[in-house]
Amino acid sequence: MATDIHRKVSPGPAAAGPDEGRVAAVRARGLVREFGGRRVIDDLELTLEPGEFVALLGRSGCGKSTLLRVLAGLDREIGGEVWVPRRKAVAFQAPRLMPWKKVWRNVLLGLPGRPERAVAERALAEVGLGHRSDAWPRTLSGGEAQRASLARALVREPDLLLLDEPFGALDALTRITAQRLVAEVWRQRGCAVLLVTHDVDEALLLADRALVMEEGRIAYETPVALPRPRTPADPGFAELRARLLDRLGVAEPAGGGDTVAGSESVAAGGTER
Ligand SMILES: Nc1ncnc2c1ncn2[C@@H]1O[C@H](COP(=O)(O)OP(=O)(O)OP(=O)(O)O)[C@@H](O)[C@H]1O
Ligand SMILES: [Mg+2]
Repeated sequence: MATDIHRKVSPGPAAAGPDEGRVAAVRARGLVREFGGRRVIDDLELTLEPGEFVALLGRSGCGKSTLLRVLAGLDREIGGEVWVPRRKAVAFQAPRLMPWKKVWRNVLLGLPGRPERAVAERALAEVGLGHRSDAWPRTLSGGEAQRASLARALVREPDLLLLDEPFGALDALTRITAQRLVAEVWRQRGCAVLLVTHDVDEALLLADRALVMEEGRIAYETPVALPRPRTPADPGFAELRARLLDRLGVAEPAGGGDTVAGSESVAAGGTER
């Protein structure tokens, strides 16, 4: 982990800093983001511990990507305060590779200094794409392009990895492989991860904690205290899935889980905020 872990996203009071002497990977206090007077992020509070894997769920349009862009430092027109690590990287649903640069050059794009090709090669090997280093992006499959995008994030050696629906466009099989890859990278690297996903199962397979965003805030959170490696066959998995789907306002299909959570069990394991 880098020692220079905190960098403020926006200017604020000079004395402000990560409080209580505790080091967190992310801290957002009273975060506000408005578009044309409409509050998309509304007084949001969020803390991620170093090395923690957190999944962020929520209905379409509730502000998940907006939050990720702020944490990535791509959007600074905010109110409130946010601290994030200096070393952070983001991967989006669309891999956003530059078509005129070979894969390895894409991986190094934007890195400071003149990093050697070997740096890209190592990251590409880590995501199982060493053999496509010399390829043009348009010749990659969707899964390969996604892995190249992940390699581009990894060369930044992030303390915080921000993933915005990175597997959304992948077919079911490729998606499982990509999920395992992210789990492995996280295990090896020990960085904090914030994963935006629409897929409750994906959240439960990967995360230590699942958050539900609603009306611009974190409205609900639950720890995911299931043993790893995880499987949907775990009875605890089914219970958590039912609880989260219920919280998201999605009814489980009949026979879709062992437990259908009522409002009592929704309150039982997680926390309303
Ligand atoms: N640059 C912008 N200008 C105006 N409105 C914006 C802008 N960016 C986002 N919004 C609005 O903010 C709201 C939240 O958008 P955001 O992309 O964060 O949603 P999301 O939770 O990521 O949704 P999805 O799950 O569909 O990706 C939406 O209503 C969107 O239209
Ligand atoms: Mg989004």
